[in-house]
Amino acid sequence: MRVYIVGTGYVGLVTAVCLADLGHQVCGVDINSEKIQLLQEGGCPIYEPGLEDLLKKNIDGGRLSFKVDIGSEINDYDVVIIAVGTPERERDGRADLYYVAQTAKQIALHATKDSLIVIGKSTVPTGTAKQISESLISHNKITRFHVGSNPETLREGNAVHDFMNPDRIIMGGDNVAINCLQALYEKISCAKVITDTNSAEMIKLTANFMLAQRISTTNALAQICEATGANVEKVMEGVGLDKRIGPHFLQAGVGYGGSCFPKDTKSIISIAEHHRIDPLIFKAVVDVNESQIHFFMRKVEEMAIMTLKNRSIAVWGVAFKPETDDVRDAPSIKVINALIEEGALVRVFDPVATVPKPLKYKITCCKDMYEAAAGAEILLIVTEWNCFKQADMSNVKLLMETAKIVDGRNIFDPQKMRELGFEYSSIGRS
Ligand code: UGA
Repeated sequence: MRVYIVGTGYVGLVTAVCLADLGHQVCGVDINSEKIQLLQEGGCPIYEPGLEDLLKKNIDGGRLSFKVDIGSEINDYDVVIIAVGTPERERDGRADLYYVAQTAKQIALHATKDSLIVIGKSTVPTGTAKQISESLISHNKITRFHVGSNPETLREGNAVHDFMNPDRIIMGGDNVAINCLQALYEKISCAKVITDTNSAEMIKLTANFMLAQRISTTNALAQICEATGANVEKVMEGVGLDKRIGPHFLQAGVGYGGSCFPKDTKSIISIAEHHRIDPLIFKAVVDVNESQIHFFMRKVEEMAIMTLKNRSIAVWGVAFKPETDDVRDAPSIKVINALIEEGALVRVFDPVATVPKPLKYKITCCKDMYEAAAGAEILLIVTEWNCFKQADMSNVKLLMETAKIVDGRNIFDPQKMRELGFEYSSIGRS
């Protein structure tokens, strides 16, 4: 099939590269000319394992190309996929549909062929596909459009694998849109959920909410475990072995981050409020996530004794999770901001991600984890990168001014750390 993908961010780019690898003829379009130039040269603007090799392979194979701005060539394609960003609107937590609206307008202005199929892939509030449809019709009264919804379910850091091996593919729309989606994903064998566009959009938001809810429940329970002398890891291992519950997303820590869970949980709250539905359960998940940073910071303050002012604190991990360079809504940023507010001297290392400006200028960015730990009074672990798990902790102890660790991701065994001579605190374990 000939596929036109608008938006080359995390979702659009992975989708473009993977669909090309499945044998489709794909064109990725973006308004950012610098990014398009980089992509045309085979360069990858994001860190995503396996993506760059696949990108080069498919450009060389003649199945993948990129261009700036939507143009009349859109009519040469069988399907147009909208994968532009839907950032959280600060005012009310709703997803900002500005880029989706702009894209729909541009598609309509260039569409001349009859029966153009347009598929929404960006994560959006329920009802957006119908709004896209209305927008297309209002800007182009001649062409007939079929609007479908095929929300993405990729995890950053595992996106290529997730695309090629999904648990399920969600397909919403009329028969024409569904047949198109079936053909697009013909080579992927998994459950295919066929429904209307509203339900498809809601499935995506609900899945993210349920996963975020499990994390917040685990984090709230971690606090109880600590207070009562239970071990949250063992508790969740025991609970997760119940097949009805399952083992995933029960890892206690400093809370969830990234561009999806924080945005989508707030989006559900705002949809509920819009319909005058009490968002009690949705709000609780967000509140627990926010309080988890305070819980973590209390541990740091207790360990620092009296004040953090002018104390040297090392932070391992900036990315919101391992295997990505994404720092959007990363817990690390909240932690670093809190440390700076308290007057601490912060030394940071992440193997891939960087601290954004202007925060970057208020800290010391280190070239490796040992340099970050050198001279520090407390080491904070905020992202569970493998290299941290494999660190030579005897060496770290020698490098630090005082051997203290607050482990926000439970990457070490508390007993082993104490045997090595560390004062060690983690989440939900004593
Ligand atoms: C999430 C979903 O997992 C994807 O299915 C979805 O497609 C994507 O959002 C999206 O909407 O685009 P992602 O944000 O990349 O993917 O990352 P996750 O692996 O889900 O992790 C999210 C956050 O939860 C991270 O900060 C992670 O550290 C945290 N987490 C995860 C925990 O704190 N505990 C856990 O047990 C699991």
